[in-house]
Amino acid sequence: MRIKFTETVLRDANQSLIATRMPFERFKEILPVMDVAGYYSIECWGGATFDACLRYLDEDPWERLRKINAVCRNTKLQMLLRGQNLLGYRHYPDDAVELFVKKSVENGIDVIRIFDALNDLRNVETATKAALKAGAEVQGTICYTISPIHDISSYLETARGWKKLGVQTICIKDMAGIMSPKAAHDIVKALEEEVGLPISVHTHATTGLAFMTYLEAVKAGCDIVDTAISCFSGGTAQPATETLNYVFGEYGYETGLDPKALRKINDFFKTYRNECMRDGLLNPIVLATDTEALDYQIPGGMLSNLVAQLTAQHKLDKLDEVLAEVPNVRKDLGYPPLVTPMSQMVGVQATSNVLFGKYKNISKEIKAYLKGEYGKAPGQVNAELQKSVLGDEQPITCRYADLLEPIVEKTRKELGSLAQSDEDVLSYIAFPQLAERFFKEREEKKARKVKYSITKVETNS
Ligand code: CO
Repeated sequence: MRIKFTETVLRDANQSLIATRMPFERFKEILPVMDVAGYYSIECWGGATFDACLRYLDEDPWERLRKINAVCRNTKLQMLLRGQNLLGYRHYPDDAVELFVKKSVENGIDVIRIFDALNDLRNVETATKAALKAGAEVQGTICYTISPIHDISSYLETARGWKKLGVQTICIKDMAGIMSPKAAHDIVKALEEEVGLPISVHTHATTGLAFMTYLEAVKAGCDIVDTAISCFSGGTAQPATETLNYVFGEYGYETGLDPKALRKINDFFKTYRNECMRDGLLNPIVLATDTEALDYQIPGGMLSNLVAQLTAQHKLDKLDEVLAEVPNVRKDLGYPPLVTPMSQMVGVQATSNVLFGKYKNISKEIKAYLKGEYGKAPGQVNAELQKSVLGDEQPITCRYADLLEPIVEKTRKELGSLAQSDEDVLSYIAFPQLAERFFKEREEKKARKVKYSITKVETNS
């Protein structure tokens, strides 16, 4: 019996606890140890890392990936990809999706966990085909949620769709930490019996269920769990790697993890964790167990975002009201699972409804959603709300990307010498303003360096 571990400290735990602000320089030293610790994979890219690198950390996300890959030669590198949304918040044309996936694999990614926020598999087909073609392992993802319209049979249907696409693994992604041990057991069992692919389970410790959930999932036949090294675990992040390694070991599972290496990794990150706590980057609130999420279904990153948003507006006292409004907005939208970008869209709309009045302001993303630009809503949307947005216009029923013109060649021409590679072109397609600022600063830095070395030569002579 073997159970594999995916370590999330560089991506999901980093994202959930400290809004993805961990710079490469802060973890590069520990990579050689992480590479031999016995993890099945290290989740280190995708999700918000790409955005955060460009926006806050002055890092080229592609270069970060290459640097990690240069050190981690034994362990698979994993990323999270939002299907047709890539790492952004809207749908991209197929040519951009194909090139992005190809380049991700070329730069070092081995495992791509692909999902669509609505479990609309039309939105993952292009990315999946490109990933398989590039030789990556694809984890076809089911976004887990609780709603009147989601049940085992709907998850099985999604999993069968993934199997048809040819993926190697099925991932049950519980971004809100609301999957109970019993639910995990039942779903994993059903998937095992009826789909037969290896299963990975992803959850968050937010509600306190996670350890039990993983244990039941593993007993039912789950093959891979997502965990975070203990000092970056718990709360809105994943449960602790060391703890689960200990427990599974007792049950006779082979985990392949080296406890000594895990201790080194934990000691290393502890210094940084303490620093984050001291300077306020890590707010203790996200480390606490919050059972309200069982009602509100707020995923890890979303809760910390809402707290940050409301704090910035000096309206943190409205948090409870906003949390109570989230399920209402969700119902109006046909019960989308609360995962990026839906979690942000629902969060922002719920905040706006509380602060300014019900649907007084409707974000352009929610409008696009109601038009069908994100795909098929899992359930019925509020017809009145949809009508108020669309007027006499008909909603889109085809795959939205079918309506989009190719973009890669056009962008390449537009950027000219500002882009030095296809990776640059893709950064620009994903985050135009951020990438452009980054490229310009890169040029300036280079110019300064040249000037400096010339001055130096002159002084020397
Ligand atoms: Co997650």
